[in-house]
Amino acid sequence: MKSFVKVTAPATIANFGPGFDTFGLALDQPRDTIELSLDVYETQIETVPDYSIPTKKNAAFAAANSIAWKNRVNAPFHMKIVKGIRPGSGIGSSAASSVGAALAMAVAMDFSAKDDEIIQASSLGEKMASGTAHIDNVAASLIGGFTIVASRSPVEVLSIPPEQLPDFEVVVALPDMVLETRRSRAIIPKAVPIETAVGNISLSSSMVHAMMRRDSAAVGKYLRDELVLPYRRPLIPGYDKVQKAATEAGALGVSISGAGPAVFAISDGGSKDIAKSMESAFKSAGLKSQAYITKPGKGAEVLEVS
Ligand code: HSE
Repeated sequence: MKSFVKVTAPATIANFGPGFDTFGLALDQPRDTIELSLDVYETQIETVPDYSIPTKKNAAFAAANSIAWKNRVNAPFHMKIVKGIRPGSGIGSSAASSVGAALAMAVAMDFSAKDDEIIQASSLGEKMASGTAHIDNVAASLIGGFTIVASRSPVEVLSIPPEQLPDFEVVVALPDMVLETRRSRAIIPKAVPIETAVGNISLSSSMVHAMMRRDSAAVGKYLRDELVLPYRRPLIPGYDKVQKAATEAGALGVSISGAGPAVFAISDGGSKDIAKSMESAFKSAGLKSQAYITKPGKGAEVLEVS
């Protein structure tokens, strides 16, 4: 057993347009850093900055414990999570912490966990955070690049590594509001007309084709969604304005990141103008926001073991 492990796990864009609960894209930035220490007397999880989440209600607790129990170990641990990713912003904050926690615990226990075991453990963190054990964010945060959940049970994830993806930039605009995933899942209808389902199957299949032939313009073209976006759009003040502004500034495509409220655009140039246009559009809807530019990135990494 190791006494200290430090890992990092990236923010992610779940759904990526038409792939509800299926597609995920790992971002180069921001990332959470998780430090796990095992030579301690009491289990405690601290977040930096302090988000005052009780240890046993932290998604990371559920994920780390799942790996520990799998190994029949019940040792206390201390975890410090440096949150680069703002909780409730829609870019996979709980997923990154859960993946980091599960991976750190597996490394600490010399348990050579397979990806599907880390994803399964991390999904318990997602369940704690949002009420549903969806795995699109955790899969992308662990594996990196563009990920496709081929099966939820048993877990099977397909992926395209970042270096094989089209060369687009991602502009992410984070409005100053929190939107609980639980809430934006609750408004989704339980059934949809067959035409809607067929439309999304077409879009999502075309999206995978566009990714594989490394065509950024086509990725932007298929970055649409009729399944959940129409219901979620009203939960994000100014979404339509932001979408229009980013498109006019040259974005190839725009959508909601995961359950929102983050909105993202992809571009093959002019990202700074797109970022500014998204911030101004949010401002005109009465919301402050911060937009930043990043790229598709690698998955979780182990930084230190002792
Ligand atoms: N696929 C999930 C959703 C992601 O859209 O609800 C939540 O981050």
